[in-house]
Amino acid sequence: MSDVSAYDPIASMYHALWFDWYLPSAMPALERLFFSRVPMGARVLDVCCGSGHVTKELVRRGYTVAGVDNSVELITLARQHLPSARFYLQDVRNLDLPERYEAALSTFDSLNHILTLAELRTAFHAIHTQLQAGGIFVFDMNLPEAYAIDLKQWSVDIHDNSVGLVRGEYDVAHGRARTELVWFARSTGDCWLRKHSIVQQQCYTLAEILASVQAAGFKQIHAAPAESLGVRTELGYGRVFVSAIA
Ligand SMILES: C[S@@+](CC[C@H](N)C(=O)[O-])C[C@H]1O[C@@H](n2cnc3c(N)ncnc32)[C@H](O)[C@@H]1O
Repeated sequence: MSDVSAYDPIASMYHALWFDWYLPSAMPALERLFFSRVPMGARVLDVCCGSGHVTKELVRRGYTVAGVDNSVELITLARQHLPSARFYLQDVRNLDLPERYEAALSTFDSLNHILTLAELRTAFHAIHTQLQAGGIFVFDMNLPEAYAIDLKQWSVDIHDNSVGLVRGEYDVAHGRARTELVWFARSTGDCWLRKHSIVQQQCYTLAEILASVQAAGFKQIHAAPAESLGVRTELGYGRVFVSAIA
């Protein structure tokens, strides 16, 4: 479980390109499932927090926030941008945090990055252990429909000092998605740095996800398609939000 994160080489790309992408679209679902149910001041854990896009909103709403992620580069960015939150460099499959939380949130299909069902169960169990009894857990994951979208074409994002390229492929037989990312960033003068990475995700059925959440000890488990919760953009397609109680 000590794998080097595929996000490390392209952390600055992730932070720059997806900074304001997820949250505005996901907000109706998060408002309904999480923000309206978790009182201000509660101790909240942002699971797989990345560089802190959602963590920032949790801080803004007055929660006492900790974030955990296994990318050293993303956690470094998160610490720089959000000095008031606590950040831990840990693997979600093996959490060992010094306190228990009243709520946990894991956004933007982070848990699809866990590549086997057995390890997904381990991750849910670890999150359950970090929550106090009665704590709320909300997460979203991509279902098979989301991966059916063919993303084989490169999409390109050009700025004065950076160029980002992204393309995906999906191996239907193994349920494995691979996103290839290339990041050119101007360093000095005409000198550009090139970074490259491949991020993998695993596709699970809703039945597999819900059975794993239940096996980890969660109760009152509810799942809803993102679109039914008001996530209207492409982010909503094939995505499910799940809420459960520890
Ligand atoms: C798509 S990003 C989402 C980040 C953040 N939740 C957001 O909404 O911006 C997926 C995140 O999951 C993290 N991640 C993937 N596998 C992980 C693991 N085994 N343990 C902890 N974090 C992990 C990655 O480092 C990355 O930050």
